[in-house]
Amino acid sequence: MKIVCIGGGPAGLYFGLLMKLRHPAHQITVVERNKPYDTFGWGVVFSDATMDNMRRCDPVTAAEVEQAFNHWDDIELHFKGEVFRSGGHGFVGIGRKRLLNILQARCEALGVELVFECDATSDADYPDADLVIASDGINSRVRTAHADVFRPDIVTRPNRYIWLGTPRLYDAFTFLFEKTEHGWFQAHVYKFDANTSTFIIECPEHVWLAHGLDRATTDESIAFCEQLFAANLQGAPLLSNARHLRGSAWLNFQRVTCVQWSFFNGHSQVVLMGDAVHTAHFAIGSGTKLAIEDAIELAGLLHAAGHGAGSLPAVLQQYQAVRNVDVLRLQNAAWNAMAWFEVCGERYCDQLPGPQFMYSMLTRSQRISHENLRLRDAAWLGGFELWFAQQAGLNVPDGRPAPPPMFTPYTARGLTLKNRVVVSPMAQYKAVDGIPGDWHLMHLGARALGGAGLVMAEMTCTSADARITPGCPGLWTDEQGAAWARIVDFVHAHSDAAIGMQIGHAGPKGSTTAPWDGAGADQPLATGNWPLLSASAVPYLPDGQVPQAMTRADMDRVRDDFVAATRRAAAAGFDWLELHCAHGYLLSAFLSPLTNRRGDAYGGSLDNRLRYPLEVFAAARAAWPADRPMSVRISAVDWVDGGTTPDDAVAIARAFKAAGADMVDCSSGQVSADQKPSYGRMYQVPFADRIRQEAGIATIAVGAISEADHVNSIIAAGRADLCAIARPHLANPAWTLTEAARIGYTPQPWPAPYRSAKSQLEAGFARAAAALAPVKVES
Ligand SMILES: Cc1cc2nc3c(=O)[nH]c(=O)nc-3n(C[C@H](O)[C@H](O)[C@H](O)COP(=O)(O)OP(=O)(O)OC[C@H]3O[C@@H](n4cnc5c(N)ncnc54)[C@H](O)[C@@H]3O)c2cc1C
Ligand SMILES: Cc1cc2nc3c(=O)[nH]c(=O)nc-3n(C[C@H](O)[C@H](O)[C@H](O)COP(=O)(O)O)c2cc1C
Repeated sequence: MKIVCIGGGPAGLYFGLLMKLRHPAHQITVVERNKPYDTFGWGVVFSDATMDNMRRCDPVTAAEVEQAFNHWDDIELHFKGEVFRSGGHGFVGIGRKRLLNILQARCEALGVELVFECDATSDADYPDADLVIASDGINSRVRTAHADVFRPDIVTRPNRYIWLGTPRLYDAFTFLFEKTEHGWFQAHVYKFDANTSTFIIECPEHVWLAHGLDRATTDESIAFCEQLFAANLQGAPLLSNARHLRGSAWLNFQRVTCVQWSFFNGHSQVVLMGDAVHTAHFAIGSGTKLAIEDAIELAGLLHAAGHGAGSLPAVLQQYQAVRNVDVLRLQNAAWNAMAWFEVCGERYCDQLPGPQFMYSMLTRSQRISHENLRLRDAAWLGGFELWFAQQAGLNVPDGRPAPPPMFTPYTARGLTLKNRVVVSPMAQYKAVDGIPGDWHLMHLGARALGGAGLVMAEMTCTSADARITPGCPGLWTDEQGAAWARIVDFVHAHSDAAIGMQIGHAGPKGSTTAPWDGAGADQPLATGNWPLLSASAVPYLPDGQVPQAMTRADMDRVRDDFVAATRRAAAAGFDWLELHCAHGYLLSAFLSPLTNRRGDAYGGSLDNRLRYPLEVFAAARAAWPADRPMSVRISAVDWVDGGTTPDDAVAIARAFKAAGADMVDCSSGQVSADQKPSYGRMYQVPFADRIRQEAGIATIAVGAISEADHVNSIIAAGRADLCAIARPHLANPAWTLTEAARIGYTPQPWPAPYRSAKSQLEAGFARAAAALAPVKVES
């Protein structure tokens, strides 16, 4: 075959040499617009896994690359005058120039034709090529010319960065944070050869503008950065090797993805490779790794298919299918890491204490968890756990390990929870006339014995017409109050869990069947319906029951019902009260612009939409004992255009905080039947994180949190103060006890009659863990 690679970066060169190595009869040309051995850029980072792949594909190149490597293990953070360092991270760095030189020399040795100083105008320049590889980098001309085929999606990110070098040598992957009068800057620094370190400086656009860096020349920018990081640079200069770039030396990262990776241009098959088809932010340094792995995959597939031009269309499809999975996974992790650096100045730098800031930074991609950090550096994590436990008020005896963050206590007002696990409220639809019965005693009692710090009762309604279904429990009669007291007494008598009550009003989502009855959840009752109330006459389902917009008299009555329910909850002995303002029920229907269309003082602006929920909150808070905590559950996003946004959620949280709320329980959605949620592991945690840092109120994270490792990671990073676990508690009432055993946390107390199961469970998990060698995730 005749193959032309447009672009002699890592992708084009490595693909060229691998193909020639496997099938020397191929005629392969790499066209590069730069001069030989002329490139800009400093060091790039590789992973151990990429090196393994390279060794397998071409040991000669791999050996040369390895010789030029700088390997380092530690990550060091310089933050507010303190230095934090943890090990076991395993990076290798190499100068980009050095890498390209090795690849160029190997190409030449194998007989790949290298054509330098040739600016290819298009793939059509090479009509006799069977295959054109568009390895022409992030601004790929080929991709742009055929945008209708490749359908690229290019997202320009808001932060500004400048890629510099310095002769100062760093023996760890180093992160520097410096605050100016306009905001935070951070530097990502790593040594890549005997004389030089890469020094990337990044800041938000508004900070960059405030310093006038948009008008600065490259030299002025360098002088500014040298001054900013002077203490750390210790007199070493910062250097640029990109003076040839037009415009500002400060760039915005562009995330590139493409729907289609290849096509036939009438003469040749054309395929995108490397940065031309996908980019990954330097926050996890994986662009070169992806480019190299693209080359390995395509060369491997062509080899397996016998190197014939006839196989190209099928092979190119396969190449996209295989690589896309890996690329998306990495882009996802890179996105999380990038997003962390974009907001850290606003969200974390001024909010988190140093050790927690370090932890948050290390887990920024959300691929590295608590237990993964233990694998990397058990001593560092042990020290962090001790610090965290001390912050939580624990007195850890000398020489004894501290409990993991999940098992540290949490105090709100006069209540101390023994750990950070909450059994999330879960409607059972098993009450009769609003009276909780044996089912509820068994359900909540079993979960209280199961190790959680706080067991929340399900949404409990403030009047008969506030119910979701006829099976919902209530607190509008003394008989109901007494039935709840029986459950509370059981929990207090037989466990050291606290028990919380969630009060709510179904609003527009009332008068429906239980999920397993009739037509299913949210569907109107066939008979026996009751009239519904809401902020506005907007039905939840398009053809559903239409609620009446509340009058002021309705609002008075419902507020008073909430107060009466609160008094009964207090009298029943509940330790915690939560006001349900989420999921499209009555108070949520006031908050969301999708369901609140009122033209009076209770609709329109967010302040107005908050007015009634805040009035109810204030009235309930006043009726709730001052030493007991009260939280509010909100839908932090509606997942519908025009609905509540995460920005609104921060404002909502601030308002409830000002009204005396102790915590915000951060759920999402269920406000509109048109919602399009993005589900995934721990998918609502970012809302809890943002609200906690920006509104300055404690939060509960909830949603697809299913392992102790998740809880530890969330709590340790300060993304939330408590974690609510719902469905896993349906499957396993003793979820907390089970997870403690799974991670080997043996000091976890068990109910006395169950103790004989404890060591058996712990031994079983220990055996299973020993059989499975733990895997360290690449950063
Ligand atoms: C600040 C920063 C830090 C980074 N840090 C890392 C890191 O630590 N680790 C890492 O792995 N990656 C890093 N990267 C990304 C990395 O540089 C790229 O992902 C990687 O080089 C992609 O390889 P490539 O071959 O696809 O493209 P490139 O390396 O961009 O190569 C494309 C080549 O095509 C040539 N070209 C373009 N158009 C034409 C044309 N019309 N005719 C002829 N030649 C043409 C260009 O001159 C260039 O040589 C970083 C990037 C930035 C911006
Ligand atoms: C059966 C069931 C009933 C639920 N009932 C309630 C409820 O009464 N009040 C509430 O705020 N959330 C309720 N939820 C939502 C959960 O509290 C939780 O937010 C959600 O299930 C996500 O957590 P998970 O992924 O751990 O299940 C319910 C969830 C389930 C599965």
